[in-house]
Amino acid sequence: MASELEAPAQEVPPAANPEAQTAAPSKQSVDPWNVAGEVGEDGKVKAIDYHKLVEDFGTKLIDQALLDRFERVTGHKPHRFMRRQIVFSERDLGVILDRYEKGEPFFLYTGRGPSSDSMHIGHTQVFDFCKWLQDVFDVPLVIMLTDDEKFLFSEKRTVEEVIGYSRANCRDIISIGFDPAKTFIFSDYEFMGGAFYKNVTRFARMVTYNTAKAIFGFNESSNIGKIHFASIQGATAFATTFPHIFGEDEKKTATIPCLIPCAIDQDPYFRLTRDCAARLKYAKPSLIHSRFLDALQGPGSKMSASIDVLNTSAIFMKDTPKQIKDKINKYAFSGGQETAEQQRELGGNPDVDVSYQYLQFFMEDDEELRTIGQNYREGKLLTGELKAICIKHLQEYVAAFQERRSKVTDEVVANFMSVRPLTWGGNPRVQRT
Ligand code: TYM
Ligand code: TRP
Repeated sequence: MASELEAPAQEVPPAANPEAQTAAPSKQSVDPWNVAGEVGEDGKVKAIDYHKLVEDFGTKLIDQALLDRFERVTGHKPHRFMRRQIVFSERDLGVILDRYEKGEPFFLYTGRGPSSDSMHIGHTQVFDFCKWLQDVFDVPLVIMLTDDEKFLFSEKRTVEEVIGYSRANCRDIISIGFDPAKTFIFSDYEFMGGAFYKNVTRFARMVTYNTAKAIFGFNESSNIGKIHFASIQGATAFATTFPHIFGEDEKKTATIPCLIPCAIDQDPYFRLTRDCAARLKYAKPSLIHSRFLDALQGPGSKMSASIDVLNTSAIFMKDTPKQIKDKINKYAFSGGQETAEQQRELGGNPDVDVSYQYLQFFMEDDEELRTIGQNYREGKLLTGELKAICIKHLQEYVAAFQERRSKVTDEVVANFMSVRPLTWGGNPRVQRT
């Protein structure tokens, strides 16, 4: 864990390719601010070891038995992310399935730290998955925009700037296709107060400086806003924070848990939240974790909006078809050979190939994906051809998104962000309690 949670010094994420700069050996580190694979004796950055994270964080791998149960209980084939171990880890997902089975209420909670004016394709994966979960479960979803966090954790950003990013990111999130009847999106700056602030302080009183230091790595020079921030991200996991959705009766709403879909970097916040929930006699949040979409430079990093100052490591949802094509062709790390002849003879390695990794996220058809991987390994498919398939998928995905986004007016944004009751159905096979 980082000793102080500042931005990494390098401007481009560490790359896994052999030409990459060498660095001193170091362990992998994954926290909400920094994701870096282990650096080996040879100075090369290795891919993130997700099994090790499950061990270190104390979460559970999602196994076939749990996937089978998910399908039985919901009647839906698990999402491609679940089938491919992109969504690979969980905490108490079984508790949520129990509740769904019985028709007992729960909600979904996720968030975004608005650090730039456009989200990238790594962020939208998490939100696409949330939308799918919301469609499957038919439950309320709350989406937190932590503009305050992005102010507190940067020396440079102004309050006005991060509020602007919140608005822009909110439009991005709406463009995923969420149902306004069931979805509440809020900015911390706007929504703070009332029931939310009560829970923030209840949370804050449970957490000592020592605990925050141990979990997040703060030190005596960290500003006090950073130390406090976990109370804000944590308090959002409690149903009593949202009386406009779940009602005023705290005794009843205290027992309603949420399921938090996020990439595994956010887990430290929710480890702490689960502990506080138990002590506050609130339902503990459950979690479902995804792995990272790699930066263009390869495994061992995550795509990041705030690190990408050179615009060479991330694909943004505002990118043009040409930008997407150029970025993949120029920067996407390839697991292929130097020349076409060598590739035909020796084959490529899809496991480290960024274009193939992206197709694992984007391509719905398991069989088609498997064939592409196999052909690449056997040298029947060349790097340029693989990149072309990836480019086509990304261009279509981003264009469809931009088309939806062009229809999101200021009124639509205002509606999603207004404090209002939501309506939802829950499990259709069970009478709602
Ligand atoms: P933020 O803005 O860093 O990230 C938003 C969500 O996207 C995930 N993520 C990624 N997933 C796949 N590949 C990547 N390259 C990648 N980069 C980021 C993050 O894990 C997250 O799920 N503090 C939070 C905001 C927040 C939040 C939450 C997130 C508040 N409450 C509850 C998740 C759940 C933040 O700055 O996220
Ligand atoms: N690289 C960071 C990011 O992902 C920038 C940063 C530094 C940061 N410290 C932070 C972001 C703390 C959030 C919280 O945005």
